[in-house]
Order: sequence, then structure tokens, then C-alpha cells
Amino acid sequence: MRTYDDAKAVADLDRRYSTAQLVDQRRRVREIIGARTGEAGLDVGCGPGFLACELAAEVAPAGRIVATDTSSHSVDATAARAEKRGLAGIVKVQVGDAASLEFPDDTFDFVVGTQVYCYVSDVGRAIREAARVLRKGGRLVVLDTDWDYCAWRSSDAALTRRMVAARGARQFAHPHLPRELHGLFLGAGLTLADAQVFSMIETRYDPDLFGVESIQGTCEAALEDGVPAADVAAWEQDLRARHADGEWFFCLNRFIFTATK
Ligand SMILES: C[S@@+](CC[C@H](N)C(=O)[O-])C[C@H]1O[C@@H](n2cnc3c(N)ncnc32)[C@H](O)[C@@H]1O
Repeated sequence: MRTYDDAKAVADLDRRYSTAQLVDQRRRVREIIGARTGEAGLDVGCGPGFLACELAAEVAPAGRIVATDTSSHSVDATAARAEKRGLAGIVKVQVGDAASLEFPDDTFDFVVGTQVYCYVSDVGRAIREAARVLRKGGRLVVLDTDWDYCAWRSSDAALTRRMVAARGARQFAHPHLPRELHGLFLGAGLTLADAQVFSMIETRYDPDLFGVESIQGTCEAALEDGVPAADVAAWEQDLRARHADGEWFFCLNRFIFTATK
């Protein structure tokens, strides 16, 4: 499974999360959370801390955001970002596991986890932990990808499906988490309040966008998963040749589920 326990992985996230696609994704997530000044929020698996800092600006001056991650590199990056934005008094960071939260019951007005629960083996326990630390009436917002909704235009659609399946299997504990979320919420005593899709749609070859950037990781996962090297190379070559207008298509659907306690 993919991990983020090194400085390079966090630096890569830092760059990717500055793209318009991800800025837009965070805007949607923040709209759905609807953070209000004075609220206390928990960002589980905060990564480099973009969302935590944006939420901190919304709950300021009286509120607070706690940002946790299993990776000390992520936590350090979040602390540095908060400091740089003058939000160090509002963003509290700590190393911690989503499946075992170190907070008392009924602590937070909202808990958010974006692209995190897909990595957590015991995701049922993690969702129950999020429910436990929420105050009555609090909301849990989860954004995750279902890798069945990932498509590249390619010359070999069957091979593309095989490549995507390999990526899902190799890099995530739960490559289809969104379809499990409603049941997980119910199992944690939460009520489903909303479910939305966030689509990334790309119609031009752009190395800064997710579709092009994902080619390499998908090829690595496919090789690990036993796809013949010649097939992987042919798939990559086909995609990387799609520079002309009208040749490139990539789409990935992420889902944003909200529950209330
Ligand atoms: C793809 S990044 C997402 C970062 C951030 N939530 C965002 O969307 O901007 C995944 C993050 O989840 C963290 N993570 C993975 N498993 C975790 C766990 N069990 N508990 C807390 N964080 C975890 C990783 O260290 C990494 O920083």
C-alpha cells in the first residue's frame, strides 16, 4: 500500500495540492463542511495541511483545527504551513492514527478525512472513532475515490481497466470505499446526510494534471500486480503520445459523503 512517510512524498503532495483541480476540490469540501467561526474541527490524515489551514481561517479567531496524520513529515509540513499563514495559534498538529484517536468523546463540531480512509485497514473502527469524538449534531465529511470510476482514453480499453484495477489493489486498502460509506456510517451510529460526486475531467495532455501524473504510479502498480512489462510499456507509450487536440481524455470520480451524529 502507498505510504507518505518520507519527505519526498509530502513534497510531491505539496506540489499536486496547489493545482487548480485540488484547489477546487478543497473548495467543494469546505462548502460542504460549512465551518463557522468558533467551531472545533479535526482533519484526519491532514497531509501537507492545505485544508487544515483553510478551515482554520474559517473558524478563526475563536475556533481551532486539530490536524493529525500518521506521517511525522505531514504533521511537520502542516505546522510549517500554519506558521507561515499566521495560523499557528489555531491549527494544532499531532501524529496520530485515524483508527485510534487520542481525544475524549464529544470533542469536535466536525471531523473531515479527504483521501485518507482508503488507506486505513480497519476503516470501520476509524469511522467509529470519528463518530465518537464528534459532538451531538456534529458532522463527518469523507472524500474518497472509487477506482471503478477512473478512465483514460486509450487504444486498449480492456488493458486500461486491468491497469486501473492493479493500481486500486496495490495502492489502497479500500479502492472502492465510497460505496461502503453509508453502511460504515450506520455501523458507527451516524446518519447519512448527503452524498455528492466530485469529477476530475481532463481534455488535454497536461503534466501538471492528475491524469498525466498518474500514469507512472499506475504503471508501477501494474508491474507489481503481474501485468506483463510489454503491455505496461505499450499502454504508457499510447497515453504519452496523446498530445494533439482531441486525443486526451481522463476522468476520475471522487465522492463526498456527509454524516451527522
Ligand atoms: C493522499 S494524502 C491526503 C492528505 C489530505 N487529507 C488531503 O487530502 O489534502 C493521505 C494522507 O493520509 C495519511 N494517512 C494514511 N493512513 C493514515 C491513518 N491510518 N491515520 C492517519 N493518517 C493516515 C498519510 O500519511 C497521508 O498524509
